[in-house]
Parts: sequence; C-alpha cells; structure tokens
Amino acid sequence: MPKLRTVAVVAGSALLVRRALRRRIRTSPLWPMPALEEPVSGRPRSRALRLLVASREEVAEGVVQLRLEGRDLPRWEPGAHLDLVLPSGLVRQYSLCGDPEDTSSYTVATRLVPDGRGGSREVHEQVREGMELEVRGPRNRFPLAEAESYVFVAGGIGITPVLPMLRALPDGVGWGLLYCGRDRASMPFLEEVEKLGGGTGRVTVVEGVPDLDAHLADVPEGAAVYCCGPEGLMAAVQERFPRVRLERFMPRVSAGGAFEVELRRSGRTLTVAADSTVLAAVRAELPDTAYSCEQGFCGTCQQRVLEGEVEHRDELLTDAERADSMLICVSRARGDRLVLDL
Ligand code: FES
Repeated sequence: MPKLRTVAVVAGSALLVRRALRRRIRTSPLWPMPALEEPVSGRPRSRALRLLVASREEVAEGVVQLRLEGRDLPRWEPGAHLDLVLPSGLVRQYSLCGDPEDTSSYTVATRLVPDGRGGSREVHEQVREGMELEVRGPRNRFPLAEAESYVFVAGGIGITPVLPMLRALPDGVGWGLLYCGRDRASMPFLEEVEKLGGGTGRVTVVEGVPDLDAHLADVPEGAAVYCCGPEGLMAAVQERFPRVRLERFMPRVSAGGAFEVELRRSGRTLTVAADSTVLAAVRAELPDTAYSCEQGFCGTCQQRVLEGEVEHRDELLTDAERADSMLICVSRARGDRLVLDL
C-alpha cells in the first residue's frame, strides 16, 4: 500500500509560514482586521449580507459550486466558512474555497446529501443564478496554524476548507495531502489539487476507503494535521492523531447523561436520552419549536430557562444571555433536571 509521501521539511519552514501569514495580514487595507467574532463569551458580530448568486456550477458529480457576489466583502483566512441562510430559513455552514483576497465574491461548494438534514438538497434544487441569499460571516474555527510541516486529510467535499490552505502555503514548506473519495468523478477540485502537488508526490488520491495506517505512517513529528470529511474518516484520523484539527459541519450530539426537562407552560415533562438533544425531545412534543443550524451557531432555538443549571455548549450566547437561557440544540443540563419556559 503506498504511503502518503512526507515531503522534505525545509529548515525554518515555520518561519516561512509565519512570514507569509503576516504578510497577508499586513498588506490588507483592513488591518487591523475588524473583529468578526468576540471572545467565547460574546455574541458573534458577523454582519449579515445579501449576496447575488452570480454563478452555479456542477464541479463534480453531486457537487454544486456557488459564486456569491457583493461589494467590499470582509476578507477571510483559509479555513473560514460562511453561514448561508437558505430560502426556507435554514442556516447551513459552507467552507469558503475561493480567493481570500477577492472582496467582490465568495465561493462555496456543497455536495448533495439525499438523506441529510435538507440543506444540501435545498441548495441543489432551489438555489439558482440571479437569486439573492443572505450570508453571515466569514468565521474561522479551522485556521491554518504556524507549523514546520502539514498533513491534510480530506474526504470528498471536505477538500473545500483545505484547498485555500494549500494555495496559501509558501514555497518551501513541507506538506502532504491524502484526498479520498468514492471515485475521481465525485471529487471536487481534484485537478487543481493535483496541480498544486506539482507531481512531487505530495498529493495522494484514494478512491474508496483509505488505509490510514499505511498512508499516514510517515507523518513527521511536529507536523500540523488537518482533517475534514465524513465523520468516520475524522474519527479514524483523530484516533491516530489526537491533536488533529478537525472541521465538522454536521451536528454532533456530544455525550452526556440523561436528564429530565419540564416544559412549564405546556405542562409536560420529557426525558432527554444520553445520546439525544433537548431540541429533539422538545420537538417530539412540540413539533413547531423553531430551530435551524442544530450546531449552536444561529440562535434560532434559544429558550428561556426557569430552573436548573445548564451546561452551555454553544458558541453564541453572551454570559448575560446564558444566565437565563440556553440553545437547546447543543446545550444540556448540568444536573438531572431543567425547567424551560415552553
Ligand atoms: S438551531 Fe441554531 S443554535 Fe440551535
């Protein structure tokens, strides 16, 4: 089984990355960058923009790329994503895969997931050229860190946040990419990725399930490992590299104990199973309860808490808001009972 070729790590390559990143920032007329996000305890202030869908193109089997045009758009760094507000009001996150220096358009791509949560189907079936879409962001929770060398593992559409990173790496920095997909036709940006590899063996393309032990056998000590792709792939990479940086767009129900939730106004008491969410339990009783992203980003599912201690797992609410409310799609009870104003 071929190994992911670990390219030579050039002495001082972390310095090259540091310089390149600094150069990018210093040449930006927006320096210092406006804070699009406050610290953890603050509500993100990324402004909402209405952008024109200037082009819609199938860039691989089942993958649609959208170019969204606007003016004076905030710059972004590789790894950043946008929140797209779809025509139905659903909010979904998509990695930016265009040019970070382009302040007149953003480019995102999405794979159709027929049995998914509905966002990709809506993009594929309802978003057309000429429409306007609301977007929020960009935000970056998957930034390119300074490192001596880099190993990227991307599965299918997971290549989208990785692509701008590869473009941004300065010459002389060691990197390798393991890019996996069902088959070549379904893998977006494959041609460009291979070109970036420059025939040096930096890019390994695997159709089907990769043998990670074989392909990642020679990852250098101190390399920064990044992974984006299906949950199974990310879990497998994390097993081997606990410090891997992951980008995840599917909601992940984090483990926790079961607890009870009383809906005071409705007069009902529900049990939230250890592997479920308050939102799921509430919607089973009250199907009209509003929600959207299911990841603690958008705030749609915020509910007032009357009693009980909350374990907040969102990235949105301020400390003041957390005093008496919670995002029920991700947050849980710290004890065995919560009372909601529902
Ligand atoms: S549904 Fe978006 S924060 Fe809960």
